Amino acid sequence: MVRLLPKDRKLRRWVIIILIITFILVASLLIYSVVASSKHKPDNPPTTRPPHVYEDPVAFHVYSRGNYTDVNSTIRYENAYVNTGSMDLETGVFRAPTDGTYVFNFIAPRYSNTTNEVLCLNVRLDRNGLPIGNGPICGDSYEQWTPASFNAVLKLKLNDTVGMFLEQGAIKASKGSDPPRTHFTGFLLEGESAFHAFRTVESFASRKNETIPFHGLNTDIKSNFNLTASTFTAPVNGTYFFQFSGSSSTSTDVILVRNDEEPMGYGYTRISHWGSAGFHTMWPLQNGDKVYARLNTGQLDEADRDLKITNLLGFIVADELSDSMNSSIHFHVIRTSSLYTGRPDGIGQLINYTRIISNEGEGMNASSGIFKAPESGVYAFHFTSHRGSTYIGPNACSTVIQMRNNETIGTSSNCHSTYSAPIFFHSVLSLQTNDEISMLLHEGDISPVIDHKMCARFSGFLIYST
Ligand SMILES: *[C@@H]1O[C@H](CO)[C@@H](O)[C@H](O)[C@H]1NC(C)=O
Ligand SMILES: *[C@@H]1O[C@H](CO)[C@@H](O)[C@H](O)[C@H]1NC(C)=O
Ligand SMILES: *[C@@H]1O[C@H](CO)[C@@H](O)[C@H](O)[C@H]1NC(C)=O
Ligand SMILES: *[C@@H]1O[C@H](CO)[C@@H](O)[C@H](O)[C@H]1NC(C)=O
Ligand SMILES: *[C@@H]1O[C@H](CO)[C@@H](O)[C@H](O)[C@H]1NC(C)=O
Ligand SMILES: *[C@@H]1O[C@H](CO)[C@@H](O)[C@H](O)[C@H]1NC(C)=O
Ligand SMILES: *[C@@H]1O[C@H](CO)[C@@H](O)[C@H](O)[C@H]1NC(C)=O
Ligand SMILES: *[C@@H]1O[C@H](CO)[C@@H](O)[C@H](O)[C@H]1NC(C)=O
Ligand SMILES: *[C@@H]1O[C@H](CO)[C@@H](O)[C@H](O)[C@H]1NC(C)=O
Ligand SMILES: *[C@@H]1O[C@H](CO)[C@@H](O)[C@H](O)[C@H]1NC(C)=O
Ligand SMILES: *[C@@H]1O[C@H](CO)[C@@H](O)[C@H](O)[C@H]1NC(C)=O
Repeated sequence: MVRLLPKDRKLRRWVIIILIITFILVASLLIYSVVASSKHKPDNPPTTRPPHVYEDPVAFHVYSRGNYTDVNSTIRYENAYVNTGSMDLETGVFRAPTDGTYVFNFIAPRYSNTTNEVLCLNVRLDRNGLPIGNGPICGDSYEQWTPASFNAVLKLKLNDTVGMFLEQGAIKASKGSDPPRTHFTGFLLEGESAFHAFRTVESFASRKNETIPFHGLNTDIKSNFNLTASTFTAPVNGTYFFQFSGSSSTSTDVILVRNDEEPMGYGYTRISHWGSAGFHTMWPLQNGDKVYARLNTGQLDEADRDLKITNLLGFIVADELSDSMNSSIHFHVIRTSSLYTGRPDGIGQLINYTRIISNEGEGMNASSGIFKAPESGVYAFHFTSHRGSTYIGPNACSTVIQMRNNETIGTSSNCHSTYSAPIFFHSVLSLQTNDEISMLLHEGDISPVIDHKMCARFSGFLIYST
């Protein structure tokens, strides 16, 4: 056994005394240094530091090919393109792995059979089992593939849950070997500015190009959305993403305006079709620029006060001044003229673009319509287009397909037989350097229809590098 203290009693006492003195000296030195350092750094006391910083990226894209008819349940999924681990396909529930601001997008086509009754599909996004908002679509059976959609920007706490709930109707399966039509995506935002505004009053009609009034905010990071004016003010120079969703049973045109003049995007729906006049857009803004949604014609309907179906959301994608944001790769391109498939081979035609709003990283070749990933990472893509007003017959759809290299990622249609309505698609994909993403017009047509000269808009941005 090893002795710590000498055997001699006198010597032992001295050693103990010296140890005690040494301890007191060291302890007082330590206390002094802590006090001194906190005095020298009054702006950064240790108590305000977060307990732990979450470094891992969070993203998912889950999808299904089959029917989903389980009314009053959280929608479940068959497969995933991306899942950093927080989305449970078996339950359809996403669980936040960290506090933060998250973006969600959902799309699924309405099931209808051969009768001519009006059938609705109504999906709802729930946070911790409580409704955030609804994305309904109703129509006759011939609009067979027209989808319901919903988007949200939400501030979540660790372990908060998000899922899509099937409130009414049924989701239709892709036919044959068609690519999947049901898609749910989400990711953690890095940006410092984000908002999600919603309406709560039954309907809003305007013939005077009025600003669409919003009544509440699910999210308003940095308070850049003024509810009274229903206007977003850009806090810094940068590129911002926006999404509008709203439904109507009458002919309705909504546009998103920058500084009372420039239309940044528009959506519309037509009479006899109770559906979304939604759209997305992504635009470079300067500090102080004002952005708001305007109702040019028609009416936005709310099914009732509890169903929040008119939503405007936005967030910063790239801050021009700071290198702290990683999404330096982003693009937004627009096709300004009509496009007919004219391809009897059934393969479809690559959609190309005539106007470049942004192309940081030079990944998008607008004239070919192909985005080539400048670096490997997880990217978010959004596509909005409008159907032409040409009558192409009953059961005739305009259908787009998203391709990753030679693989079909998903498809979306609008099948209203006579009038224009938006076609949406969105994805969150993991890409290798030089992987190619493109949109094909598989059948039908896309058209600018009214004079905003935007018949298709395609945008994408890097969420995180790998
Ligand atoms: C979806 O449901 C329809 C109608 O019930 C049925 O005909 C079809 O086979 C189903 N599709 C799949 C992929 O289960
Ligand atoms: C779904 O739930 C609602 C409200 O609880 C209820 O009225 C409705 O009958 C349910 N539908 C089905 C198909 O279970
Ligand atoms: C069509 O679907 C609706 C709702 O699921 C159902 O009530 C109706 O009986 C169906 N009609 C036919 C002809 O299958
Ligand atoms: C979050 O959930 C995990 C796994 O269920 C659990 O271990 C942890 O204690 C939870 N944390 C909080 C703050 O609820
Ligand atoms: C509404 O806006 C449209 C296009 O932006 C314009 O053509 C029309 O004159 C405007 N109407 C009114 C009443 O200001
Ligand atoms: C919000 O907008 C209203 C109406 O334009 C204005 O009176 C108010 O000062 C604005 N609030 C802020 C915080 O800018
Ligand atoms: C924002 O952009 C404008 C126009 O390019 C420029 O004049 C201004 O200095 C920029 N602001 C900042 C803070 O860099
Ligand atoms: C772009 O699309 C148009 C219309 O389909 C087509 O005529 C043209 O050849 C395309 N351009 C390129 C470079 O592929
Ligand atoms: C863009 O695509 C067009 C048409 O395919 C091609 O001619 C052109 O070289 C491409 N541009 C670049 C920079 O790759
Ligand atoms: C796609 O398929 C064609 C023919 O099968 C092939 O020539 C081409 O290299 C493929 N492209 C990619 C990006 O895999
Ligand atoms: C962001 O960029 C920095 C520097 O380029 C890098 O160290 C960091 O890992 C990136 N973060 C993510 C989430 O990609």
